[in-house]
Formats: sequence, structure tokens, C-alpha cells
Amino acid sequence: MKPLNVAVAKGRLLKPTLALFRDAGIDVPDLETTRRLLVPSADGSLAFLLVKPADVPVYVESGAADLGVVGTDVLREAASDVLEPLALGFGACRMVVASPADIPFPSLPGGMTTRVATKYPRLTRAFFAETGLGVEVITVAGSVEVAPLLGLSHWIVDLVETGRTLQDNGLVERAEILRVGAVVVVNRASQKLKLERHQELLKKLSDATTVRR
Ligand code: PRP
Repeated sequence: MKPLNVAVAKGRLLKPTLALFRDAGIDVPDLETTRRLLVPSADGSLAFLLVKPADVPVYVESGAADLGVVGTDVLREAASDVLEPLALGFGACRMVVASPADIPFPSLPGGMTTRVATKYPRLTRAFFAETGLGVEVITVAGSVEVAPLLGLSHWIVDLVETGRTLQDNGLVERAEILRVGAVVVVNRASQKLKLERHQELLKKLSDATTVRR
């Protein structure tokens, strides 16, 4: 039987994701040291593929991966058509609007168009469209907090966990856009075609998640 392909996000979610699968009794390969990007579990029932967070919804929506673990920040940004059967209780943070203390919010003087730097252009546009504030969105790939310090943008939209990065860069939180956490995502067709295998795995992950809480 072919393994279920599990897309796992590199970065902050990697350690807690692998720990969860191990707690669920799955013999997870050492993805953190290998350079292989598709690695089977010891019993061959799963194969883990290690990808950038934004690619997890891409693999799962297309069916190339049967399921994956990803943050709801990346998932909502991608607006992917996938099932989302389980919240995992880790990776909690918030997506917020922030700016330097001396840059006014929610509008700049003289009707100037506000520039907002972010890794999340879709969610940022949707948020400001809803609030009726016209903004120009500038998409960057990371280290977003530096943008207002150098005049690239007036405000930013980014994730806050402890608040340290905002504080260390002299930024203050202005509005909350989204509460974020890690979730399991599942391909719709795969869920139907391989129902029992999905149910069995989800039960293990759900039980492991409950024990941790
Ligand atoms: C994330 C996020 C913030 C920071 C928030 O960045 O984008 O910059 O963590 O955490 P804090 O509130 O605890 O300081 P990450 O380190 O993942 O890198 P990035 O800036 O390249 O996205």
C-alpha cells in the first residue's frame, strides 16, 4: 500500500509537529538532520515531505500530499479548498497591524495613502477593505518589522507571539486581524478515497493533542 503523504512545514512549527506525530505513536524519521525531502515512517504507512509553510496548502489542495500541518495564517492567506479537521493547540500567535509609535493610526495626516508591508497581502487587503481604509500593500518575504524603520512602509501586518520583535523595533500594536494556530489540513478527494486511513491517523493525532492539553 502506498504511504499517505504528509506535508510538514519547515520553521517554527517543525519541532512541535514532529513531536505530535511521535506522541501519536508514529515512528517519525529524523527530518531535522536529513537532506532528503520525502522520508517514510519506519512502518512505511506515512511519508513526510518537508516544505516551506506556504507550500503546505499547495501540496494538500492538489492532492500531491494527502494531508499536512500548517498555521492558519498561511492557510487563510492561501484560501485553499482543503478540509481542516483538527486544531493542534500549538503555534498560537496573532496577526496584527503595527506601526511606529509616532506614526498615526488609523489614518495619516493630509489624506496620504498608507503603505503597509506584509507577508500576507491577501489578508491585509481584505482587512483594510473591510475597515474602509485605503492602503497600498507592499509584499515582503520576512523581517517585516524593519520596513517602517526605513520608510518602506508606514505600518506592517505581521505575526506577534511574545511581542518582543515589535518592542525591540519600537513598534506598537494597533489592531488584531486574526488568531493563529497550527491545524491539520486534508485533501478532499484523499479523505473520501482513503477514509479509514485518514480516520485512524486523525484519531491518533487527536488523542495525542488531548493528552497534551
Ligand atoms: C515571526 C514573526 C515576527 C516574530 C514574532 O518571525 O514574523 O517577526 O516571529 O515573534 P515575537 O512576537 O515572539 O517576537 P520569524 O522569526 O518567523 O521570521 P520572519 O520575520 O522572517 O518571518
